[in-house]
Amino acid sequence: MMTPWQPHKDLAFQKALNLLNSHVPVAIPTETVYGLAAKFDDTEAIKEVFRLKNRPLDNPLIIHISDLAQLPNIISQNLSPFKKLIDQFWPGPLTLIFKANMATVPSEVRAGLDTVAVRMPNHPKALALIDKIGPLVAPSANKSGYPSPTSAAHVLSDYNGSVFVLDGGSCSKGLESTILDVHQEENLQILRPGVLGWKEFEVLGYQATSTVNALESAPINRAPGMKHRHYAPKAEVCWITTLKELPKSALTSLVISVNALSATDLTHLPKSIYLKEYKGDFTKFASSIYADFREADINGYDRIYILTWPINEHNPTEIALINRIEKAVSRA
Ligand code: TXA
Ligand code: MG
Repeated sequence: MMTPWQPHKDLAFQKALNLLNSHVPVAIPTETVYGLAAKFDDTEAIKEVFRLKNRPLDNPLIIHISDLAQLPNIISQNLSPFKKLIDQFWPGPLTLIFKANMATVPSEVRAGLDTVAVRMPNHPKALALIDKIGPLVAPSANKSGYPSPTSAAHVLSDYNGSVFVLDGGSCSKGLESTILDVHQEENLQILRPGVLGWKEFEVLGYQATSTVNALESAPINRAPGMKHRHYAPKAEVCWITTLKELPKSALTSLVISVNALSATDLTHLPKSIYLKEYKGDFTKFASSIYADFREADINGYDRIYILTWPINEHNPTEIALINRIEKAVSRA
């Protein structure tokens, strides 16, 4: 039988604690993506997080907790209306936006807003760290604009090894948490789609509207240069509806297909193209998409073609995937 993980015997875990206590940001694993962590009230380390990521100061951070008892020090809102949500989804890939406790949450964390984002990550190492040291801010550990890291190696590569990473393996979800704004009790809004969606909230009796209409903005051929690039690899990301659209010279490209391709489809695939198929497994696609983007860059591919698929609007993972791909799509 495998011995359970023992934090006090884990030197890397102890090192992470020491660094955080010395105002040094540390990358930590979560079930969604790796985060670049600092203690939530350590403004010196928080400024370093923004600097390392090259993150605009007007983009607020998520505070990660391990215990509901930590909340009164972070939020100033009655929790009872959201008890069912919290019981069901924490720890898990759900970030809630509350009215902030302005006395205790530094303005840098909130980017000057009077609200604050909070979640309880579902990863034993993150939870153990927070238990020991208290709540941590942790934006995704990528450099701003680049795809989020879903393994320790991704973080090491983004910072050339200059940031200490507490290795917790590959992230099981692979997409950033769903952000649900509950600071206006009667007007719940999904600000960022993730693997949890409005249907999961509705089952518990919560009506949430989405401010991001991922489907409306979905494919294809929209006007160039309209958007802010995000989650984007160096390779150009493009939607295609069929392999026939691939240029014959598409030698240095990755093609990602969520659905299995038929033998006929494959006749349209230029020989030296790298093909990644997910055979209808959206969970696997979500957990691997950022690694695929990064691998394309490591291999020096110019383009990543993503085959469109008939979207099931009831699957939040599909909505979240469309949202991230749309943001990564670049046009000359
Ligand atoms: O899964 C995740 O949420 C990961 C892991 C590490 O926990 N973290 C993450 O953090 O994705 P970040 O900083 O990359 O994205 C946080 C998002 C940003 O888009 C930010 O604008 C938004 O949350 N946010 C934070 N505080 C907010 C607030 N008070 N109101 C509205 N949006 C907020
Ligand atoms: Mg991010």
